[in-house]
Amino acid sequence: MCGMTVVLGTDPASIVRAAACLRQGGLVAFPTETVYGLGVHAMDVTAVHRLFAAKGRPAHDPLIVHVSNLDQAAVLTTGMPPVASALANAFWPGPLTMVLPRHGAVPREVTAGLETVAVRVPAHPVARALLEAAGIPIAAPSANLFSRPSPTTAAHVLEDLRGRIDMVIDGGPTSVGVESTVLDLTSTPPRVLRPGGVSVERLRALLPHLEIFGASVASGEAARSPGLLSQHYSPRTPMALYSGTPDATRLAIVRRIHQATADGLTVGLLATREQIAALGPLSVPVVDLGSEQDADAVARRLYAAIRELDAANLDLILAQQVAHTQGLWQAVADRLTRAATERVAIPDP
Ligand code: TXA
Ligand code: MG
Repeated sequence: MCGMTVVLGTDPASIVRAAACLRQGGLVAFPTETVYGLGVHAMDVTAVHRLFAAKGRPAHDPLIVHVSNLDQAAVLTTGMPPVASALANAFWPGPLTMVLPRHGAVPREVTAGLETVAVRVPAHPVARALLEAAGIPIAAPSANLFSRPSPTTAAHVLEDLRGRIDMVIDGGPTSVGVESTVLDLTSTPPRVLRPGGVSVERLRALLPHLEIFGASVASGEAARSPGLLSQHYSPRTPMALYSGTPDATRLAIVRRIHQATADGLTVGLLATREQIAALGPLSVPVVDLGSEQDADAVARRLYAAIRELDAANLDLILAQQVAHTQGLWQAVADRLTRAATERVAIPDP
């Protein structure tokens, strides 16, 4: 393949070109409603190897296979539990990934040797058009270098992967902004392995016994979803995440800014609009995540905000954990926790 990355629009001719490239084993980044994915032909083992190499992704981290509909998902698994069709009816196309028993036709390279396969029907019109035109299942991780924040624009993709992939389709910023919810239907009860675009509350309507695979789970279980490395989605700049009661947390952040600045370090702050307002004027760069009234907007902006602060080449990023835990906030809080290299829990005064 070529050493140049072609940037395509979303016109029909571009979709046809990208689909042909995928069918021939090429690497094509494309928008989904969550984040940009880096697609390859899921049944082409050579292409899958190239994908892992381009991302610098360890081979033990399995990929999500994207398909057009439930029938195509069924072909990839040996067993679709009845609840899977109910979930598909409720949430597909959309930001839900289901982990199901792997069919022998799915290469082990895709599932990182696991006997399960992750499948999703994306909702983004460009992703859907590409799947239709290609007529193949597309394996696609987020289109970032391994352990970098996920890309929500084509520019983010190019920042990480220019020259390493064949094409990127520029469909503008993604609308959800955090990745799909990964739901394991092969365990009893079913478990959320990664909170994401479909909230746990919405899943519970269909899966009352749903469990959440949290940081509290014994570390030996981490291999269940190898992508759930505790540190992931990170900026290059060290990031300290502060959580706790708002007043005490603010005080601790202000102290840390003063201390770090006195030590000659450059510091930046990442927080919600309300948190920033409560902190008052600061003498360091501040990036606003959006309002606590609007989880959708914060999720949409999260990765771009992290990349923006990272690009300032500071010595340290301080972030304040979001106050809410419901709905999309759970995914936002999860990604902030994983992006952090240092977690500071401020005890109640
Ligand atoms: O929204 C998304 O899910 C995006 C877009 C492009 O679809 N994709 C994405 O892929 O975030 P990736 O590769 O960055 O994350 C996939 C996650 C990882 O945590 C991986 O470990 C998990 O899904 N996963 C994949 N296959 C699995 C399996 N068979 N069992 C358990 N976890 C699996
Ligand atoms: Mg990823």
